[in-house]
Amino acid sequence: MSEFRVQPIQNFEVDLEVPGDKSMSHRAAMIAGLAEGESLISGFLPSEDCLNTLSAMKSCGVKVAVEEEMEGFGPTRMRIAGKSMKLDAPAAPIDCGNSGTGMRLLAGMLAAQSFESELFGDESLSSRPMGRIIDPLGEMGATIESKGAKPGCAPIRLIPSKMKPIHYELPMASAQVKSAVLLAGLFCEGRTTVVQPATTRDHTERMLEAFGVDVGSEGNTISIKGGQVPQAREFHVPGDISSAAFWLVAAAARPGARLVVRRVGLNPTRTAILDVLERMGATVIRRPLGGMAGEVMGDVEVHGAQLHGTDLERSEIPNLIDEIPVICVAAALAKGVTRIRDARELRVKETDRVATTVANLRAMGGRIEEFEDGMEVEGGHPLKGAEMKSYGDHRIAMAFAIAGLFAEGESRILDTACVNTSYPCFASQLAAVCRESTDPADYCFPIRRQDS
Ligand code: S3P
Repeated sequence: MSEFRVQPIQNFEVDLEVPGDKSMSHRAAMIAGLAEGESLISGFLPSEDCLNTLSAMKSCGVKVAVEEEMEGFGPTRMRIAGKSMKLDAPAAPIDCGNSGTGMRLLAGMLAAQSFESELFGDESLSSRPMGRIIDPLGEMGATIESKGAKPGCAPIRLIPSKMKPIHYELPMASAQVKSAVLLAGLFCEGRTTVVQPATTRDHTERMLEAFGVDVGSEGNTISIKGGQVPQAREFHVPGDISSAAFWLVAAAARPGARLVVRRVGLNPTRTAILDVLERMGATVIRRPLGGMAGEVMGDVEVHGAQLHGTDLERSEIPNLIDEIPVICVAAALAKGVTRIRDARELRVKETDRVATTVANLRAMGGRIEEFEDGMEVEGGHPLKGAEMKSYGDHRIAMAFAIAGLFAEGESRILDTACVNTSYPCFASQLAAVCRESTDPADYCFPIRRQDS
């Protein structure tokens, strides 16, 4: 079983790139697969989650020609021949692995087809709530059976039915649910409208627009007229700011540290982590490189400092929901208290991230109080090296590897294969950080052209 062994470091002077954005890579595979014509997708994240989505699209007849790959993982650059909205019936149930995004967005797309399909996932995904997509898709006329051991959970069977557009008020701030309804709406006659209670990541809207689909967006109300066919194009996926977050915290919390992250996504619905680290006392310099296909990419430079605690705003939570475990690590290293409330969505992620973050931070001697909707961290208590579980959750494994860099003595994080669901190459970049390497070559991931 793979594990991370992490020694405390004295110095952090790093210049790196992180692999492609996970949310955008899922959407690029799906939207290019639905489009008319051949799209060129680069910067794709070859993680297990996104590869499962790519396989799902292939099983619906989408053809993929790989041009470059990250050695040992999978494609980063490929041509995707879209199906002009006319998907084929998959021959077998579709495996979504560990991915909530994969399953929920694919369900939106597949619910509206004239064939039956089935989606299943691993143990963690099979215990996550699917009622949140079954309800609105059901209102649109879809017939979806949840076959899981746990009520309302995967596997789910999607049975052909005529779909109609709806006006849907999301009960929770979820980009996955919003996207599932919008993708289903693309196949309906008429206009589908979604109203979200707070702003969530808007990659689906931006990418559909970039592929020539007219999406109406006014504040938190988003609508789409069915029957439009996305048009193929080139799309470059920038680096994933949620992956960069681990290094951002490693630098921000260490006085004298300096980090540059290159070509990372800076979509404003994802950058609250930068605001929070700035508020906690780090210097954060953003250097936008201009827009590309509706998204924003840039370099980010961070100079570390003695951090101090902060309160996360309610409106910030959806923007940094995936970064909360590593923000708790920053909070433990800061002076004063950090309050994170209104974040009950954490309890239905790959693990219950309130519980798993609390367990690991306490194992290291951190002070953290658990609430039904979040946590409060009392910073400034020295962290001690400890043996911790990942609980099979990639972000928990990586967050506590970062904590280990600041602890007294060695830390071991057990069962770290889960990291491949979002961040191939994290282990080799972590090894370079632990060696205190300042050689940029140690932070590159190996890309191989298909014909070489
Ligand atoms: C995602 C949305 C968020 C996030 C997840 C990716 C997406 O989930 O936590 O990692 O790509 O749409 P929710 O929609 O459940 O908030």
